[in-house]
Amino acid sequence: MPGVPAAYSEWVNATKRRLRGAELLANPILNRGTAFTDAERSALGLHGLLPPQVETLEEQAQRAWEAYQRKSDDLERHIYLRALQDANEVLFYRVLLDHIAETMPVVYTPVVAEACREFSHIYRRPRGLILSYPRRAELRTMLRNRPYRKVDVIVATDGERVLGIGDQGVGGLGIPIGKLALYTLIGGIHPARTLPIVLDVGTNNQERLRDPEYLGWRHERLDGAAYDEFLEEFVAAVEEEMPGVLLQWEDFATRHARTLLDRYRERLLSFNDDIQGTAAVALAAALSAVGATGGRFRDQQWVFFGAGSAALGVADYFRTAMQQEGLSQSEARAAFWLVDSNGLVHQGRDDLNPEKRAYAQPLARLVNWRRGPGGALGLSDVIHNIRATGLIGLSTVAGAFDEGIVRELARKVDRPLILPLSNPTECCEAHPDDLRRWSDGRALVASGSPFPGVAQCNNVYIFPAVGLGVVASRAHRVTDAMMMTAARELARHSPARQDPKAPLLPPLEDLREVAREVAVAVAGKRLRARVAAAQWTPAYGL
Ligand code: NAI
Repeated sequence: MPGVPAAYSEWVNATKRRLRGAELLANPILNRGTAFTDAERSALGLHGLLPPQVETLEEQAQRAWEAYQRKSDDLERHIYLRALQDANEVLFYRVLLDHIAETMPVVYTPVVAEACREFSHIYRRPRGLILSYPRRAELRTMLRNRPYRKVDVIVATDGERVLGIGDQGVGGLGIPIGKLALYTLIGGIHPARTLPIVLDVGTNNQERLRDPEYLGWRHERLDGAAYDEFLEEFVAAVEEEMPGVLLQWEDFATRHARTLLDRYRERLLSFNDDIQGTAAVALAAALSAVGATGGRFRDQQWVFFGAGSAALGVADYFRTAMQQEGLSQSEARAAFWLVDSNGLVHQGRDDLNPEKRAYAQPLARLVNWRRGPGGALGLSDVIHNIRATGLIGLSTVAGAFDEGIVRELARKVDRPLILPLSNPTECCEAHPDDLRRWSDGRALVASGSPFPGVAQCNNVYIFPAVGLGVVASRAHRVTDAMMMTAARELARHSPARQDPKAPLLPPLEDLREVAREVAVAVAGKRLRARVAAAQWTPAYGL
């Protein structure tokens, strides 16, 4: 079967020989529902369990889409699609692929945030693994209980920083489920080879703890040495059970995200999507924007609003890209103006961690600055005092890019780049329509959450492609160089390269094709055939 690794189809055939009747219909990977042929129904004990009409996948997809359209709100649509996924994965992915722009925001951001918040209320069937701290002695056993043996990609979270909505405890599982759906939809990683995991280490979300229906460990969130030990035991168990698997760290709180990445990136095939994936897609958008204006990347001045783990990851990639154009590290650093909840990051501050301190501006550069009340140096002061060419929002502060700030920015540069990246939609720093209006249509915009007609600067442009490239090439490490290669390749596919008025990133409909090209760039051109073969397409016929 083209597109399916041989070992996998053997496994499917073996499983299929064992599973029959109602059990077969209950397996979402093997179930074809009304698409089982008469001959298959006879051989597999399915007559009577299914209505007599035999349908094509297209006919099934049509019915599913009709049912989807009958749902009256986004959470209901999410529940419907998740139920479809748990019933018949081929059909689920077919529907997603046929309606990618409509369904992606429902399966993933922003609607998945609501699904995480409501996890314990909308829970239906098990998916993935919930590794609960009280059972820590059985980590290996729980990993062994995974539904499918051969796993290529794990996405793991501890649910502490779900998108922009904070600690959701066990409800965070919705995020790895959604992310892995995109690994399959776009990257083409076979669904049976993906494994979502939540590390259930308690929650400090009082609303969840008070909720009688909360399904996770009802305990305050684990921290300190006990947390580190649990994570170490988890990683050790993964190494033993699934050596060589790609492990994506997802939605960990800032204080853990960087630490875990640094601790494990040389030990496992692993990366942190919030840090590296965000950085790569933002870099792709910025490279596209600078390319569209005909400027040089090294000449830009960047203002970052928010200096958390996502922002620092983005700044690091931007800086590296500037250095690749010939700037020294310190020359490149001078082009970054980071603003956090205590104002501009400068050398006079004593509350900076080492990552932020690396971007602290010398006080000497601020001597003649106009300051806000009480000497404050907030976003509007920074925008007023420098000639910024790009403004990047990773702050979770809704509406932070207001009219005054945008007009001042656009007064000084012809085509400013503005990236309001915070998720979900209610946390977005500005509505893209406002940004365009306030800049007289000159701003180049990509947003974190979906808005009609605007490029969505979403990690989905990067992680499924990097995953595909890494899996196809059997790489041993995920490096920053790979992520930057992915960003540059993605930028090569930017519609704005052809037409400066076009979106900065390719349309969602092109994502699978673009992902394949990005994966080839990551894996190395000589592996093109292997990348193509690894990209699964939802169709029956295994
Ligand atoms: P974080 O909590 O590590 O960082 C937030 C930063 O914003 C901190 O530096 C904080 O000081 C700053 N901040 C908060 N309130 C502020 C205020 N009133 N004024 C100035 N600064 C303020 O969070 P993280 O992980 O960096 O994520 C930030 C946002 O980025 C979230 O909304 C997240 O959903 C979004 N994000 C978007 C991605 C995308 O692809 N579009 C990917 C990853 C994150």
